[in-house]
Amino acid sequence: MIEVSHCDLAYIQGASQVKVYDDFSLKVEPGESLVLIGPSGCGKSTLLYLLAGLLQPTGGEIRVWDERLTGTRQQTGFILQEYGLFPWLNVEQNVSLGLRVRHMPKRMYQDAVEEVIRKMGLWEVKHHFPSQLSGGQRQRVALARVLTLHPDLLLMDEPLSALDALTRERLQKLLLEIWQEQKLTTVLVTHSIEEAVFLGSRILVLADGRPTHVIGEILNPLVGQSGYRQTSEFFQQTSYVRSLLEGGMGG
Ligand SMILES: Nc1ncnc2c1ncn2[C@@H]1O[C@H](COP(=O)(O)OP(=O)(O)OP(=O)(O)O)[C@@H](O)[C@H]1O
Ligand SMILES: [Mg+2]
Repeated sequence: MIEVSHCDLAYIQGASQVKVYDDFSLKVEPGESLVLIGPSGCGKSTLLYLLAGLLQPTGGEIRVWDERLTGTRQQTGFILQEYGLFPWLNVEQNVSLGLRVRHMPKRMYQDAVEEVIRKMGLWEVKHHFPSQLSGGQRQRVALARVLTLHPDLLLMDEPLSALDALTRERLQKLLLEIWQEQKLTTVLVTHSIEEAVFLGSRILVLADGRPTHVIGEILNPLVGQSGYRQTSEFFQQTSYVRSLLEGGMGG
């Protein structure tokens, strides 16, 4: 579905350049759940911006469904860490925002919006404003808004990192369900090794350094199996990811 071929990307900083990617290539298959993990500053968010078409590579090319990506596309959903909610709109209005900016009449989206709001467990708070919501609820509103647009690609930048442990696990399960039900192609950035192994059908470990490179690629075929988190295979996978990360940081 996605083909990143020999991409370069550098940020200009005054007179100097920060080279984040140099001759970087990556493929993502349809229906995959790819997780990116790596030290702070290695270039994970940058890669999501490239895949979203918000940044253009300075060399190489990115293709989505075999078409060259030259800007953003409607079928790509992007969830940022700061939720991106509008404080003056309530839950229902925030969730339907994407549809309203597409000038869809209310009677056409009302049912779909209500269904997503119920599925995300937001029914009781649908008239609340973001300031009246918990972090987990805000995150679910952001997710609901993206899902109403039926994306074929979902990009998420540390979507759960601001949440407490239990809420985070609950939302991890929700993400897993959505991915399994909708066969959505997803690319998720996280700092949590556990989360990477719980959610990723494939995990890419990126190295510190300018430019970055892939230190390891872990296939995770048991992802989504019930009770996976409690198995010895899960533990082995997390240990392996941890050893790669530690090696990559020279620790
Ligand atoms: N707009 C910018 N101008 C200059 N340098 C930038 C810019 N954005 C990012 N960088 C640099 O590019 C590198 C990669 O940044 P990026 O945000 O992709 O990292 P990250 O892996 O997402 O980090 P974190 O885990 O902390 O979110 C960093 O060294 C950062 O300082
Ligand atoms: Mg980042």
